[in-house]
Amino acid sequence: MDVTIIGCGYVGLVTGTCLAAIGHNVRGVETDPRRVKMLTDGHCPIFEPGLQELMQEHYASGQLQFTGNVSEAVKDAQVVFLCVGTPPKPDGTVDMSFLEKAGKDVCDAVAAQGADYMVTIVVKSTVPAGTNRKLYHFLKQQTTAHLQVVSNPEFLREGSAVKDCLEPDRIVIGGESTEAFRMMRRLYDPLVKREESFMTMNWESAELTKYAANAMLAARISFMNEMTILCDEYGADVEDIRKGIGSDSRIGPAFLRAGCGYGGSCFPKDVAALAHISNAVGHENLFVDAIQSINAMQKKRFVDKIEKKLGRDIRGAKIAVWGLAFKADTDDIRESPALDVIRYLLDKQAIVKATDPKAMENMKQVFKDQVEWCPDPVTCAAGADAVALLTDWPQYTTLPFRKIAATMNNPVIFDGRNCLHREVMRETGFQYYPMGRPAVENTLKLKNRV
Ligand code: UGA
Repeated sequence: MDVTIIGCGYVGLVTGTCLAAIGHNVRGVETDPRRVKMLTDGHCPIFEPGLQELMQEHYASGQLQFTGNVSEAVKDAQVVFLCVGTPPKPDGTVDMSFLEKAGKDVCDAVAAQGADYMVTIVVKSTVPAGTNRKLYHFLKQQTTAHLQVVSNPEFLREGSAVKDCLEPDRIVIGGESTEAFRMMRRLYDPLVKREESFMTMNWESAELTKYAANAMLAARISFMNEMTILCDEYGADVEDIRKGIGSDSRIGPAFLRAGCGYGGSCFPKDVAALAHISNAVGHENLFVDAIQSINAMQKKRFVDKIEKKLGRDIRGAKIAVWGLAFKADTDDIRESPALDVIRYLLDKQAIVKATDPKAMENMKQVFKDQVEWCPDPVTCAAGADAVALLTDWPQYTTLPFRKIAATMNNPVIFDGRNCLHREVMRETGFQYYPMGRPAVENTLKLKNRV
């Protein structure tokens, strides 16, 4: 099928590349001239495992093309995806301006095609309930072309987006037209492994499914983060509790890992948007409010714990931050817990050193020379009074801990991701403080503050 993707950001590029990989002819439209140049030069503008290779393969074969011209790209398309950003405004409501502009551009291009033209417009951007319906009625007023609008929320995780796109748990399509549902079923045919995983529903249900999915996952994390407080107080292990409840098939094990809070461009934004969507109909969503408050508190608690365990105020103490990305396998720092943790540490006048295998350049833009930037965890920990581990990069589990302990002022690690092995910490002489798990407290005395 001939498919046009409006917006070659993260979602658009992954979706377009995967649709090309399953045999469709895909044209990606991008308005940012620098990004168009990059794409047409065959470079992938974002870091996502496996994407660059797949994109280059299908760009080279001609199956995937890029342009800056909307009307050219929409001409002859059977399906047009809207994949533009819907970022949060400062008050937490959704900024719809990019989607409105994309809708208008597509509308002009569609109107120019005449009444015989048939197209299905697919909204992939995350949008508040009611948006697709409004878009449909707006477009119908502008053109006599035979068009349909469907909502098709994305469930891609950064770091495994290509796999999530090519092997989806489910495909959700919201709309009102069986003809459009059929079109989408045809489009996704190679990806539908079980018929029941292709779900059709009305526009509003599909729109709210997206917010509900992210809020449910964030709720599970916040619930476990709240449990860490009880675990610390009563001497329980949150990992054992995770296994204990995750093995119940009604609960399941995913997204129950406690830590220093969730981040990223999706959970914080979508949970906040759900609160606003609730407020808009006069409903105070206490549950969603709690998910957010717990997440905000968790980062503060993490810094309070550093202070408490070091046994003094941390003014002048050197804290080595390992991990800046909001999760492993990405350079993305949006809403990363590291942002708040570093801010709190700086507010308390700690001396912050930091490292990350991918996200350091992005974080440098935020904290500039307020932080000492280090090329690797070993250099970062040297001379420090404590390490604060904030991203679960797998390479952090196999570091030369004995050597690191020897170079630190105090060999103490606060593990905000519960990803290090307690036995290794014990053997290598660390004081080790995970989240909601028993600590390793070697008899070794903390040195006085530098
Ligand atoms: C999330 C969802 O998982 C995707 O399904 C969704 O499509 C995407 O948002 C989106 O709306 O576009 P993503 O933000 O890439 O994907 O990252 P996740 O893997 O979900 O992790 C989010 C945050 O939760 C990270 O900070 C991670 O460290 C944290 N997390 C995750 C935990 O603290 N505990 C867990 O058990 C799992």
